[in-house]
This record gives sequence, structure tokens and C-alpha cells, in this order.
Amino acid sequence: MTNILVSVAWPYANGPRHVGHVAGFGVPSDVFARYERMKGNNVLMTSGTDEHGTPILVQAEQEGLTAQQTADKYNRIIATDLTNLGLSYDMFTRTTTKNHEKVVQEMFRQCLANGYIYKGKQKVAISPSTGRTLPDRYIEGTCPICGYEGARGDQCDNCGNELDPTDLINPRSKINGETPIFKTTEHYFLDLPALAKANLAWLDSRHGWRTGVMNFSKGLFKKVKPRAITRDIDWGIPVPVDGWIDNPNKRLYVWFDALIGYVSSTIEWARRQGTPDAWKQWWNNPDARIYNFMGKDNITFHSQIWPSEILAYNGEGDKGGKPGKLGHLNLPEMVVSSAYMTMEGRKFSSSRGIVIYVRDVLERYSADALRYYISIAGPENQDADFTWQEFVRHNNEELVSGWGNLVNRVATLLHKDFGAIPSIDPHDLTDQDRALLQETESGFDRVGADLDEQRQHAALTEIMRMVGDVNKYISDTEPWKITDQARLATVLHTAAQAVCDLDLMLAPFIPDGSQKVWEQMGGTGTIAPMPKLVDVTDLDNPDFHYPIITGDYELGKTVAAWKRHDIVDGTPIPAAHPLFPKIPPRAVQEELARFKSAMKARKEAKKARYAKARAALKKAQEQADKPEQTEKTEK
Ligand code: MF3
Ligand code: ZN
Repeated sequence: MTNILVSVAWPYANGPRHVGHVAGFGVPSDVFARYERMKGNNVLMTSGTDEHGTPILVQAEQEGLTAQQTADKYNRIIATDLTNLGLSYDMFTRTTTKNHEKVVQEMFRQCLANGYIYKGKQKVAISPSTGRTLPDRYIEGTCPICGYEGARGDQCDNCGNELDPTDLINPRSKINGETPIFKTTEHYFLDLPALAKANLAWLDSRHGWRTGVMNFSKGLFKKVKPRAITRDIDWGIPVPVDGWIDNPNKRLYVWFDALIGYVSSTIEWARRQGTPDAWKQWWNNPDARIYNFMGKDNITFHSQIWPSEILAYNGEGDKGGKPGKLGHLNLPEMVVSSAYMTMEGRKFSSSRGIVIYVRDVLERYSADALRYYISIAGPENQDADFTWQEFVRHNNEELVSGWGNLVNRVATLLHKDFGAIPSIDPHDLTDQDRALLQETESGFDRVGADLDEQRQHAALTEIMRMVGDVNKYISDTEPWKITDQARLATVLHTAAQAVCDLDLMLAPFIPDGSQKVWEQMGGTGTIAPMPKLVDVTDLDNPDFHYPIITGDYELGKTVAAWKRHDIVDGTPIPAAHPLFPKIPPRAVQEELARFKSAMKARKEAKKARYAKARAALKKAQEQADKPEQTEKTEK
């Protein structure tokens, strides 16, 4: 048994999550966690909402809410959506808890004590119309390296290079289009160059990463610069240094704090369990394995910033040092990143309305339909396109006609002819029966090997290939024509066993359907548990309440083992009913129409924002001009 920590990227609490997000960090991490639990490993899966920094401030401004209100609102929406998608977090929390703040400040202090954080000066971008600092990510311009026009102030998504806002040619605010002005202020920096050697040595010792992720990660070390980890901003975790801690306009950089959520969330989980040290099984035990799941735009932070933060805390960079009171922290085993998911051929963009929200999908379709689509055709290694046409096709042709029909045919015949799993004489099994049983039983190894290596498309494709083989077995044996009761029993028994095997293999992908099929085949108890949303009070602040996602995912109790479960003769089989709903083909046109009108609405809203910003700027300029004129007239 291995202790496996599934560290899932923390979604910003600045809007509902869309299909591209959950294709990146959500579904793949859950498939992996569910599989590893079925294998008998000691799995902990944690995450939460990322609630600091400008992403939240910008949204708050647009909605006329405070930052905390915005975070509260989207924390709940996101936690609800992820619960409904069946993502089986042990702890899904948020970055505005007191627990998180304490852990972040502890890490900052130790990194500072070890010499990997130092004070320096930084040029920052300011919005002329609001006077506030503009975050790197909200500045857009032309990449000086590749010429891509949509590069951001922190990195260019086209060539993948890290950038500073001052590098951009023609910089402009993504919020309202204005040109930022730059000024120099004092900040704390993470000394990435002093950590680069150790960071790269860790990268070099990794195995089995997706090639694209590894190449990109190594590329980050061609040129390493220190990185500012504080911001001129009033929303975030206070900088735990004398003279800074009380300064309301200096806060820790949102990424510095969010990444530490990987540790703080496990501590919160342990504290809520009443076993406050239990988190150490994953963080301090050298045999534990930590997997980080995310979308492509997060790789830099997980291959470089986060390992460097850990190395700095442990005192393992060029300057030496020692771990703080959290002890020596483990570096990740693997950075599992997906590529991008485009939407009907376009890059997802909430600001442009090119977006399909998870909750909209779940309102009209099943979580399994979405999970299935992402697992079979999502952006595992390459960018993938989400289209409604394909969404409906995968559901109707594969989940419904392929798998659902198979279950239905077998259950219907069993119910009608025997009312239960019939007993058989194993000597009656023909070569064809044996071949099928052998194929699905050994499927656990083949599918498992793919899941071990994060090849989820291949794993699910192999399961669906076997579904095809069982369907073919039914068509070949034509049980509805068999008059010999013993032969009929043998065929249906064989098919039922194969269906149960495949159902367990499908459990990580489509847990809800898997549970239903289990019951349809006469199974009792829970085999594929669902997470639950629970309202809690902050452990260190009685006035702060929030929802967490948690659950009971214990092998043998709510989780079935990853192996054949022999079907039991005499188990009653209830009357069959369709378990996977078909989506009417007209849904494609309806969804496309919705998509287009959302895009149009967003375009208009953006125009209005730009106009407002221009007016504010004009007013500010007029006021700046006035006093001068008055002076002149007085003279
Ligand atoms: N909020 C970030 C994003 O959506 C991800 C943060 S991952 C974390 O891109 F681990 F750092 F929190
Ligand atoms: Zn570029």
C-alpha cells in the first residue's frame, strides 16, 4: 500500500468553472484517485478555491461586490459544481481560511530564514484609470520572442516563455484596454536561481512524465530569474515581516500562497479528522507519492515555482538551510498536465463568452456524459476540441448504445429467464465463453497499466473495446434463441460476469452509472462513492463559515477493489430499465444557439466596460488639467 496524495490545481473563485477547466484539472485527477483507491492505496485528494490576488479583485469590481463576497459566492458555486460532477475530494477547501494563512506564513518565514527569499525592487504596472496595480496576467501585448499578439504579462501561451509585463511590446490592460504605466516599488523575491540546480536535479530524476510536459518544464531552466512574491495590492495574505505585516497595501503574491494550499488543505483534513498529524503520511514520508493535476497554463508553477518553494523551505538549494516546523516536505512525483480544450474550434475565453459552464451542462445532461467525453476525447496529450456534436455522439453511440444497451440486454434476459444469476456447471463453458471471461478478467491488468501511466484515453478505449466484444458475444450466441436451459444459463452467466468486470473498470470514469449498473446486476452496497458538500466553521475563526467537499471513500466499505468480483449464483436480478439517458439529436442545434448568444452578450458587455473606462480616464485627465488653469488665472 502506497500513500498517494492527489494534489489538484485550485480553481480561481472568480467565476463558475467551465468544461475546459474540469477537463484540465478535474476529471483526470478524479479518475486517477478513484482508481488508486480501488487498487488499495492510501489516497488523499485535496484542493480548494484560489481566492486571493487580482483575479478576484477584478471580478469583484465588475460585480460591485467586495473581494470576500466574490470569493464566498464563487467558492460555493464551484464547490457545488465539482460535487455534482462527482469529483471525490477528501478535502476541498479555500485559501481564505485561517489555517491556510498560518501555513503560508510559516513557509514564507522559513524560506526567508533559509535565505531563499530576499528584498529587492520591482517595476510594477499601474492602471491609469483606477490607480491600482495591474497583475501580470491582466496585461496583454505582443510577445518579444515570438511575436504572438495575445501574450500575457506573465507568460506567452504561444511560445511558452515566461515574461515580465515590461517585456511586452504594446502592453494594454485586458480589463479595459488602457495602456499601463510602470513604477518601481519594494518587494520580496523568491531566489529561483539559487534553487535551480536542485529543482532541475529533481526534474531529471522524474520518470514517466508526458513528453510535452517534461520538455516544457526543462525549457524553463534555460534562463532563470528571481521572481517577486509580493504585490502592491490590498487583497491577499499579509507578508509576515515587521513593517510589512500591517501594511494594508502589500500582500503575498497569489501564486505563492495558492500552491501552499497543497499542504494546508491536508493539514485541514487531518485537523478535521481529529488526527492533526495524519497529513505527514503524505508530506514527510519519503515513500509517499504526490501527483499534481492541472491544465497546461499551470505547468510553470508546478515544475518550477512550487518545487522551488518546497526546496527553499527544506533548505535544499545552493544556500543550504533547514526545514521549518512542518518538517522536510516531499517534492511531487509527477506533474500531470493536460493540454487545452477548445470550444467549437475556438480558444476558451470567459471574457469573450466562448465558454460552456459545468453547471449548464449538468443542468441538462448527466455528469457521466461529461466525464465520459472528457475521458475519451479530452486534451490528454494534445489540444482537443469540445463540440456539442461529439458530446452527443459519444454519449448516444458509446455510453448508451454500446454500454447501456449491453447491460440492458443481459439484465433483461436474466430477469425474464431466471430472475436471478443462474447457477452453472463450469465444465459446460465453451472455448468461446472461456475466452470472453479471460479477456475481461485480464482487462483489469491492461486497463490498470494504462491508468498507472496516466493514459486515460487508452484505458477507457480498451474498456470500450471489450464492451464491443461482449456485445459481439451476445450477438453471436443469440441467447434469445437458445432453448436448452443449461446452455442459456451458461451464456447469461458468462455475459453477466463480463458486464460486472467492465462495470468495475468503468467506476473511476463514470461512477454514477457504474453504481447503477452494479445494482442492476444485483449488487448491493456502494462501490463508487460520491462526494458530499458539508457546511463547516473555520477551525480558527468561529465567525467564518464555508462549504467543503469531502466523503467516505474506504476500500471494501464504499469502494470496490480493482479486480474481478465473482458473481454469486442466486443473486436476484431486478427488472431492467435504461440507465444511460439518450440525448435527443436536436440538442446540438439548441446548444449551439445558446453558445452564440452568450458570445454576443459578452461582446456587448466588454464594449460597455471599455467605454466606461475611457470616460473615467477622460474625467481624470480633465480634473488633472483644471487646477493648473486656475493657478494661471490667479496670477
Ligand atoms: N488558480 C489557478 C488557475 O486557475 C491555479 C492555482 S493552482 C494552485 O490557474 F495550486 F496553485 F493553487
Ligand atoms: Zn511568445
